[in-house]
Amino acid sequence: MRPKAIIWTLVLVNLCESRSIGSVDESFLQPPHYHHYNELTNLLKKLEAEHPKLARLKSLGRSVKNRELWTLEIHKDAGNRKLLTPMFKYVANMHGDETVGRQLLIYLAQYLLHNYGKDDRVTELVDSIDIHLMPSMNPDGFENSQEGFCETGDGGVGRVNENSFDLNRDFPNKEHEESVFDQMTAYRQPETAALMRWILFEPFVLSANFHGGAVLVNYPFDDSNHWRSFGVESKTPDDALFRRLASTYAQAHPQMRSGDSCHEHFDGGITNGAFWYRLVGGMQDFNYVHSNCFEVTVELSCCKFPIGHVLPQHWKNNKEALLNYMGAVHWGVKGVVVDGSNKAVFRAVVVVVGIDHNVTTSTRGEFWRLLLPGEYEMYATVYGFLPSHRAQVVVESGRTTVQNFTLHKLPSKK
Ligand SMILES: *[C@@H]1O[C@H](CO)[C@@H](O)[C@H](O)[C@H]1NC(C)=O
Ligand SMILES: *[C@@H]1O[C@H](CO)[C@@H](O)[C@H](O)[C@H]1NC(C)=O
Ligand SMILES: [Zn+2]
Repeated sequence: MRPKAIIWTLVLVNLCESRSIGSVDESFLQPPHYHHYNELTNLLKKLEAEHPKLARLKSLGRSVKNRELWTLEIHKDAGNRKLLTPMFKYVANMHGDETVGRQLLIYLAQYLLHNYGKDDRVTELVDSIDIHLMPSMNPDGFENSQEGFCETGDGGVGRVNENSFDLNRDFPNKEHEESVFDQMTAYRQPETAALMRWILFEPFVLSANFHGGAVLVNYPFDDSNHWRSFGVESKTPDDALFRRLASTYAQAHPQMRSGDSCHEHFDGGITNGAFWYRLVGGMQDFNYVHSNCFEVTVELSCCKFPIGHVLPQHWKNNKEALLNYMGAVHWGVKGVVVDGSNKAVFRAVVVVVGIDHNVTTSTRGEFWRLLLPGEYEMYATVYGFLPSHRAQVVVESGRTTVQNFTLHKLPSKK
């Protein structure tokens, strides 16, 4: 770039910055530094105390070294999700030495809470989505890692949990047939088991899980039956949808969308997991195969644990992407499945004809089916009932279609 162009760029950047600082509160970016466990814990407690209606702090359990696995729920009526309000989650720092996502979620929590009721977009997100943020899934690994170390390598100190397990290889794999929870979680790490319980028992709709060491979005499947360990796609029945979800994040990130970072190229900054490299026992596949939640894996930085000074720049690069991706939870169709006496049917199966991936209803009979715009044929079914009528459902971009189903008992055999 020529010197003149540089000056103009600086002027423009400054104009934009002063505008955005005027409208939203981002004072939490200063001074830029990582929040270690104690500071993180204190901040989360403070946010909950200052925003009792909007924020609710919970621990999913404890790490090997007894640290709390904190999650912060942010919603206009936290703890009282209204019928059909979708649940969303962001999980970071599963690899303890991949730290940018951890701090981004700490920023995001403050951004949402400080700007609720002041910024229309934030208010809309917090009103319409039950948002759950988990800054650190591996707090022990984080404390074992060192700021400024870009690459500790597989199995390196900090990546793994205190028992030296890679948590993103510790989930039941794609073919795992076992569905009894206690057997599924037997012999798993406490961090993995805590996440499994959360994923299986809360009706999450959409999610992302943050890593580092590359800059891209990776979508399921990571696992594959192919003998090659890379370069061959392992597609889900929802491949087109996953590509769009991944692009929603990547296109809003100024480096990621170029597809060129960290000496690798990925068109549009997205890749199928197995195409990049095959991985067994990962969390995103577990979400898709064993729950109703659609999850992608976001790689945020070439350097896994960059020095704290660069954190505000990462916030700037990811802010739009973080907000856009949350909004995708409203894509598609939602509704309730009830029986002949209008009572909720739990674990009814909702089928989209032509897409071999079903979702099941929550204890309140709710379902959410993420879908791209188009026309679909859908029905609900469950053991002991006749299948529902087949509904022709139109999905438009930018809004959720509501479609309810009623199931009638099978006539009892005499
Ligand atoms: C979805 O449900 C339908 C109807 O019960 C069933 O035929 C189909 O095999 C299910 N698909 C999957 C992937 O489980
Ligand atoms: C679907 O059911 C919900 C919950 O009972 C209700 O609020 C909504 O109006 C229904 N929508 C349609 C389109 O029937
Ligand atoms: Zn990772």
